[in-house]
Amino acid sequence: MSAKAIDEDGLDSALVRLESVARTYGTGQSAVVAVRDATGSVPARARLAVTGPSGSGKSTLLQLMSGLDRPTVGTVSWPALAHRHLTPTRSIAMVFQGPSLIPALNVEENVALPLVLAGQTDRDAHAAARSALALVDLTDLSDKLPEELSGGQSQRVAVARVLASRPRLILADEPTGHLDAVRGAHVIDVLLAAADQLQAALVISTHDPAVADRMTSRWRMSEGSIRTAQETVRL
Ligand SMILES: Nc1ncnc2c1ncn2[C@@H]1O[C@H](COP(=O)(O)OP(=O)(O)O)[C@@H](O)[C@H]1O
Ligand SMILES: [Mg+2]
Repeated sequence: MSAKAIDEDGLDSALVRLESVARTYGTGQSAVVAVRDATGSVPARARLAVTGPSGSGKSTLLQLMSGLDRPTVGTVSWPALAHRHLTPTRSIAMVFQGPSLIPALNVEENVALPLVLAGQTDRDAHAAARSALALVDLTDLSDKLPEELSGGQSQRVAVARVLASRPRLILADEPTGHLDAVRGAHVIDVLLAAADQLQAALVISTHDPAVADRMTSRWRMSEGSIRTAQETVRL
């Protein structure tokens, strides 16, 4: 996956490309190199698992891919998304491991909020939120507050919020980390269905082999490096 993906028109079709990227936290003796010499690209429609033990740099790598964080060394670009060097934030959505819903807003308002903040009218934002909730089978929970939801339901609302903004690249950082196997599998079902529906690329970091096996390619991280980038063989 590190080879350049050039489409028929000669355009670089990678959604995100990392070139010799490193990210160091802190300076001097206390410096921690969280990601080192990372090179790779995510093509359109990718289903990529980023695996590795805790502390191996998965979250840092996803934050660099999202543009929320900047590399210390090397470059991150979004050839198929970016308007030159600007981070194409509205084409990229991130799902986090922990609770990310706003407690005072109900489910539909949580899903609509990023769209309202991006300038859509309340009416359009809520219409998009309702169709996203229908896609992840959560219409019945529209009026609930986050505190009334289970962990799995909360994560599905977080996926609906991603879906509503119609991103082309979905980055999910250990989205099943706090869930049991059945609820975790359901969240992955919903993420895969959302990515299919949007024709988006999906990148999931996980240390759960059962989650990684549902993706079609894998980057294994160890001590900040991408050790292997491989296509998963489908039998
Ligand atoms: N904000 C931070 N400040 C200092 N060190 C950090 C910070 N975030 C992560 N690290 C360190 O960077 C390394 C990689 O962390 P992380 O990317 O969170 O790995 P993973 O997601 O695989 O657990 C770890 O050694 C971690 O302690
Ligand atoms: Mg992490």
